[in-house]
Amino acid sequence: MFLTGASSGIGEALARHVGAEGARLGLFARREDRLTSLVGGIERAGGRAIALPGDVTDRSKIDLAVARLVDAFGPVDIAIANAGIGVPTPAIGFDGAAAAQIVDVNVVGAIHTVAACLPSMLERRSGHLVAIASLAAFRGLPGSAAYCASKAAMRSLFESLRMDLHGSGVRVSTICPGFIDTPMTAKSRFPLPFLMTVDAGARRIARSIERGRREDAFPWPLSATVRLLGHLPAGIYDALGPIVRRTRATRDE
Ligand SMILES: NC(=O)c1ccc[n+]([C@@H]2O[C@H](COP(=O)([O-])OP(=O)(O)OC[C@H]3O[C@@H](n4cnc5c(N)ncnc54)[C@H](OP(=O)(O)O)[C@@H]3O)[C@@H](O)[C@H]2O)c1
Repeated sequence: MFLTGASSGIGEALARHVGAEGARLGLFARREDRLTSLVGGIERAGGRAIALPGDVTDRSKIDLAVARLVDAFGPVDIAIANAGIGVPTPAIGFDGAAAAQIVDVNVVGAIHTVAACLPSMLERRSGHLVAIASLAAFRGLPGSAAYCASKAAMRSLFESLRMDLHGSGVRVSTICPGFIDTPMTAKSRFPLPFLMTVDAGARRIARSIERGRREDAFPWPLSATVRLLGHLPAGIYDALGPIVRRTRATRDE
């Protein structure tokens, strides 16, 4: 399994969980020290893993990492595009550099991951591509233009791939979690309804992958809400904007 964003949060918890169940893991992220200590923990628990330091925005680093993983453990059976960043990008004072960086890591990083792993999966007529998108993929949210755009792009990207790959032997899953307690959400100044622990989130993601779910959006109360919002006409949705902004302001006070 090739897992990006393994040094922290969801990726780290997922690596521990699937490592304990016998997966052979290639753990990719920039912070090598964290990957190395994670590998140690997984191996002490009886699993097998290697640390693959690199930046997802650098295609050559991903290619190299995948080649090292194949040398160590054989062909990649599952590739999980999990690496991601998210900072507010409000329209007033719009930070173009921050927005471009979010899209670069979340979307281009996922594209590099797919490009590095898919050809050999197609040759073997076997494999599984997984995107860790978000419930933020379903509708634009105030203050989060770049993050929402990046997650919507990931969801569409993997949906198109799934259609193209029908009958190829390669499965495609898009996971859309709500709020999970990780260093990313710890920075949030907004309310985080139905916040899940990182272990519960990782278990849920592992189960969805194992079952080959095409798309898994959870927890259900938030998933149902964003799907409902997805059907609202733009005028009605826009009218809800001030309410969402007020909810967020409450947490700021
Ligand atoms: N937490 C949530 O509530 C939530 C909900 C829905 C979706 N998600 C998604 O889940 C994924 C993981 O998020 P998280 O909450 O676990 O956040 P996190 O704890 O901040 O972890 C982010 C991971 O991405 C890696 N990363 C960031 N930039 C990278 C880069 N340029 N190259 C390689 N790796 C990079 C980080 O490693 P390094 O810094 O070591 O590179 C880290 O391992 C993200 O895609 C996020 O959008 C999270």
